[in-house]
Amino acid sequence: MPDLQASVDTPPVWFAAGYPLRAHNTFGFDVRARFACRVESEADLVAAIRDPRARGLRTLVLGGGSNIVLTRDFDGLVLLVALAGKRVAREDEHAWYVEAAAGENWHEFVAWTLAAGMPGLENLALIPGTVGAAPIQNIGAYGLEMAERCVSVRAIELASGAPVEFDAAACRFGYRDSFFKREGRERFVITSVTFRLPKLWQPNAGYADLAREIEQRNAGVALHARAVFDAVVAVRRAKLPDPLELGNAGSFFKNPVIDAPQFDALIMREPQIVSYRQADGRVKLAAGWMIDRCGWKGRALRAAAVHERQALVLVNRGGATGADILELAQAIQRDVLARFGVELEQEPISL
Ligand code: EPU
Repeated sequence: MPDLQASVDTPPVWFAAGYPLRAHNTFGFDVRARFACRVESEADLVAAIRDPRARGLRTLVLGGGSNIVLTRDFDGLVLLVALAGKRVAREDEHAWYVEAAAGENWHEFVAWTLAAGMPGLENLALIPGTVGAAPIQNIGAYGLEMAERCVSVRAIELASGAPVEFDAAACRFGYRDSFFKREGRERFVITSVTFRLPKLWQPNAGYADLAREIEQRNAGVALHARAVFDAVVAVRRAKLPDPLELGNAGSFFKNPVIDAPQFDALIMREPQIVSYRQADGRVKLAAGWMIDRCGWKGRALRAAAVHERQALVLVNRGGATGADILELAQAIQRDVLARFGVELEQEPISL
């Protein structure tokens, strides 16, 4: 089992000025960084931020670059997080506690837990990006958010170089939201995440698309985590573009949550609207449905386009800039506001 906190004695790798970031953001935007540094351990990370070349520079952490819109060259230091390793940190009667380093590919990590007989993350299969990025926007899909499995996050504080452990409460997870996306932004670099995977597995297969896929594949058969995993992969492949083929950052907007009186008025005008009542009485609206209704699905603004099979996903058809994507996003926001009276909040951060 690899020791996740092991330090290596080779220094971190620095790349020359003008380092291309195209392969480090899933939109595939062709921008450059003043400096980039690949870090493979916490020791590398501390060495990089203490390096004289980093003094006074703004720092940007990139894992898979799957939740960012880079609108221009980055005049600072990009930390390419490549910390590797995953292990069962401990186990008790009720659960496995699995720790993975920040640079691990998320989907490969999910597949590894399943192959090792530790289900619980299968609903989150095929989400692009790294383990270290997962807590930042609290990735979620098909009825599960990573917050429900996350017990702690380890990070290095940029200002001091000191390691800090955050328990789940300190991460302040919300819908596509966390401490790391708000107050903690640009202050910490996540180095590893620990998950609790209960030994008593219960399927989470109620989400409409998923339930339909499982019914088609496994009707009448006892449900296993592997079947859920396979169904999630199939549903995602059918609807969501592979960033290696078509640049994108997943859902570009959050599903907005509105209060009950606003919803009651809205549904009178838009009886077909897709909505989900929340525990607190408020109502979450399917932004993809609203964008679709505004006629945006498949439409383009230069090389920036709305995906043909999921209107919540904006794509780079080739050669689009971050500014093109933001211009398209603003046009969509204007139309949705005009028709539904609802503001759409952008999900990825832009820089
Ligand atoms: N819909 C349309 N037209 C569209 C897109 C959606 O009518 O073009 C309708 C669908 O038919 C469905 C509803 O809107 O009735 C919701 O669509 P879907 O099930 O595809 O999910 P979503 O709400 O658009 C959210 C997450 C996804 C996640 C899926 C499945 C957000 C912002 N997005 O999308 O997460 O995979 O549910 O759980 O919460 C991501 O965050 O990057 C992401 C892909």
